[in-house]
Amino acid sequence: MQPVCEKRRSPSWVVRSSCVQLSCGMSATPIREKACLYFAYGSNLLTARLRIGCPSAVKVDIAQLKDFRLDFNYFSRRWQGAAATIVGDRNSRVWGIVWKISQDDLAHLDEQEGVKKAIYRRFRVEVRNGSSFYSCWTYQLVRPLEDDRRPSTVYKSVIISGALENELPEDYVAQLRSISDNGYDGPVEEFFTEDHWGKVPEDWRQFLEAAEVDTVRNVIANSLIERSEDPNWNMEMPETLANFFVTCGNSSLPRNAVANLRDVDEIFSEVQPTEDNWICGTQLMTVSGGCRRHVKPKKQHEISRMAKVVSVVAKTTHSSVTDLGSGLGHLARILCNEYSLDVLGIEEQPRFTEQARIFDLESQSLGKEGEVSKLPEHVTFSVKPWTSGRSMLKEVGKENLRSTLCGLHTCGDLGPAVLRMFAETQEIVGLCSVACCYMKLSATGDFVGFPMCKRLSSENFSLSYEAKELACHALESFVNGKLVSGYERLKIHCYRAMLEKLLIQHDGQLKRIGVRGVKNAHLMDFSEYAHCAILKLDTINAEELNQLIHLNSDWLDAAAKNWKRVLLFYLLRLCIAPVIETVLLLDRMMFLFEQGDDLSKFFLRNHLIPRH
Ligand SMILES: C[S@@+](CC[C@H](N)C(=O)[O-])C[C@H]1O[C@@H](n2cnc3c(N)ncnc32)[C@H](O)[C@@H]1O
Repeated sequence: MQPVCEKRRSPSWVVRSSCVQLSCGMSATPIREKACLYFAYGSNLLTARLRIGCPSAVKVDIAQLKDFRLDFNYFSRRWQGAAATIVGDRNSRVWGIVWKISQDDLAHLDEQEGVKKAIYRRFRVEVRNGSSFYSCWTYQLVRPLEDDRRPSTVYKSVIISGALENELPEDYVAQLRSISDNGYDGPVEEFFTEDHWGKVPEDWRQFLEAAEVDTVRNVIANSLIERSEDPNWNMEMPETLANFFVTCGNSSLPRNAVANLRDVDEIFSEVQPTEDNWICGTQLMTVSGGCRRHVKPKKQHEISRMAKVVSVVAKTTHSSVTDLGSGLGHLARILCNEYSLDVLGIEEQPRFTEQARIFDLESQSLGKEGEVSKLPEHVTFSVKPWTSGRSMLKEVGKENLRSTLCGLHTCGDLGPAVLRMFAETQEIVGLCSVACCYMKLSATGDFVGFPMCKRLSSENFSLSYEAKELACHALESFVNGKLVSGYERLKIHCYRAMLEKLLIQHDGQLKRIGVRGVKNAHLMDFSEYAHCAILKLDTINAEELNQLIHLNSDWLDAAAKNWKRVLLFYLLRLCIAPVIETVLLLDRMMFLFEQGDDLSKFFLRNHLIPRH
């Protein structure tokens, strides 16, 4: 039976605080103060998924929200694709579930959806099923719609599972199925369910089984990172595997740090090389004074190096600097403060622009007494990938500004947009761009972020979402970082994949349901890990898990013993990442070359390196 107070047959409502009250004269069951209604339309359609964070959730009804459409936007790291949202649309409706949840769970949902961080906003909607009306809370993404709004395959499948579980109308489920996704099906969890190891050639498997992880690590470090001319591996390795490593190394741009920037100075000969113009290898660079506040050491290192390059280019070209996607303005601030450049930061998120201005004032107040440091200018403006450089500068009130464009971590299409502006706009005389989030590059539509060059475009060359996502991973950080500092910790990936197999065996709909992260899993046996990991799931209890463990005990023992297979497989996979990133960067270089000699002669051949 539905609680009367939450279901009504007249659309006139009075909503008081977060609870729904009837405005008509019907006598209503008193509202249980702590409960409220929540309309879910995304992954929280699936009971198991919702109950991870909202154990109190009880289904009230299915319902439709009129004048909205289901859409996706804003890349979610958790789901590796765009997250679900609703967008006002008079010709559409969104089906979902009305859940009754406690206020505590509502607060938890707020946290999960990033309401405080202004990622989603929570607001009230009226939804109905036939003659039943409900006033519910729901969530909507705050960000402007992006071009690539595809959800991942795995996220879409959770939404469809939820729709099927709750018997949403068939035509709506068909509509969900037709949504184009980005093909991402999760990397680690599927190791056993998709038999990844079985896909590795047999002689490679035999070699990898017998080799130590350290040995394989060294081979990769030698051939792909250090690029030894004669990698004296001192071991019998299948020739095809050795060729794989060497080919990955030869087909990718160098992965080691730039030792110095003398070449920049040679090309722009007006600036003489001095100690100050160098950027030394991998030595951690930090930022001084007020610019240092709120910036983590890794970020300080990045912006210090970037600022040096940008300053050489801007001073040589006698231009001011326009920082696209300037975020909190850390780079802009150091360019002003330490290099006395005129800097304009352009950022689409108003809250970042506001915060950047606050940080500017803070850094100024921390400067030396009596010294007034220069401050950047920040404007809020969303650069559309097809916007011309000239119209962008005009719109932000900087018509005819002679400037060097820079972008640190220009995600998705912003990277290609920056390149195109540089190529097409005379006033933009320099460019320093470090890209990120390649998986967000558009492949179709009004703007294509990859491929950019005519050659690849004419061949309809494309990269899968998974390939572009893989290109964002830094092989060298893994090989010289996690693999060196105690790779035993990575055993958790094997455990996670083992648990995935059990969960799917228990209920096919629990694919990638999202279990709890477990600290120090490598010190536990699988059973201990699995019990910790399912603690908040109510789709499987400890007893059911024990039964599954018992039934699969032989398989689990063997899988746990071979946990290094998971690690080695992903290490092999990671070797391809630099090759894909090289393809992405060479496409950009080809695009610039296609624009004519003027651009190609300035290209810093030795400095086209990953994300540099
Ligand atoms: C990865 S962050 C980098 C921020 C900053 N450059 C840094 O390195 O700290 C990318 C920034 O670009 C902004 N951005 C993304 N697309 C944009 C667009 N089309 N126009 C303006 N800003 C954009 C985002 O809001 C975000 O602040």
